[in-house]
Amino acid sequence: MGALDDQVALVTGAGRAHGIGRAVALRLASAGADVAVCDIARPVPELEAAGVGLGDDPAELEQTAELVRRLGRRSVAIAMDVSNRASADEGVAALTESLGGVGVLVNNAGSAVGVAPFEQISDTEWETSWRVNVLGAVNLSRAVLPGMKEAGRGTIINIASTLGVAALAEYGAYVPAKHAVVGLTRLLAQELAPFGIRTNAVAPGYIVTDMGKAEQAKIATAMSVSVSDAVDAILDEIPVGRLGAPDDVANAVAWLADPASSFVNGAILPVHGGQTPGFA
Ligand SMILES: NC(=O)c1ccc[n+]([C@@H]2O[C@H](COP(=O)([O-])OP(=O)(O)OC[C@H]3O[C@@H](n4cnc5c(N)ncnc54)[C@H](O)[C@@H]3O)[C@@H](O)[C@H]2O)c1
Repeated sequence: MGALDDQVALVTGAGRAHGIGRAVALRLASAGADVAVCDIARPVPELEAAGVGLGDDPAELEQTAELVRRLGRRSVAIAMDVSNRASADEGVAALTESLGGVGVLVNNAGSAVGVAPFEQISDTEWETSWRVNVLGAVNLSRAVLPGMKEAGRGTIINIASTLGVAALAEYGAYVPAKHAVVGLTRLLAQELAPFGIRTNAVAPGYIVTDMGKAEQAKIATAMSVSVSDAVDAILDEIPVGRLGAPDDVANAVAWLADPASSFVNGAILPVHGGQTPGFA
């Protein structure tokens, strides 16, 4: 018996082999959930411009679904643009038809578009960052809420960031957007708990994914050092002495989805190896 045996989970942004989304999907499946996975699954030039790649390959998304099935759970792969409300609604309707109502929503899709010095961020980058990082979570939450309310239970877990609780120079549109994800989490925790729905967030620090590696390269360029020297500088800030892995975030998400955490609501759980200062 797994803790999530009779549950359907939805994980957004789960279409990349080394991403947090795939790790979360597999971890929730290990806990017994059937898992719908979604990603953009088509080229989006304005997001590619962030230089961090995108889950634009439908085959890679389908592979996440296949890995869930190999764990003995049901799965569907849905192409969905979380920043578009109609796309979110259609995607949730389709996966509900095949798997049943969503009990666990993990808003993981995100973008580092607009990570740059403040004066260099374009209007389009501000808008795109807000639409993906913030409205993505808003759209998906709205889409699953009627079903959760009807069921009288549900869990929403937003993937924020340490940059949702503290700022670093030159992280541009990402910092305000992730702060908004934290605010949204706290709002929904207050508003939805009476319906049996808990809302929490995970705030990852440096996690080794494609986005994380692009980040290391950016830091190396900014410091005019090699990537390995940049990683050493990052490690100096992390008391546990290592970078995070997608599974570190997935394990935190699994605990927040588990009824064992049923008195945890509105928490912003740092998964950053104790990185200080300011990132608690
Ligand atoms: N890697 C890190 O160090 C780190 C640290 C803190 C927070 N995060 C957050 O964790 C989450 C996962 O990041 P990751 O490191 O796995 O990066 P990633 O780039 O591998 O994953 C992000 C996924 O979101 C998808 N996505 C982007 N826009 C979308 C849209 N409009 N609709 C649907 N899907 C869309 C992408 O295609 C991609 O698959 C993000 O929210 C990110 O901001 C990552």
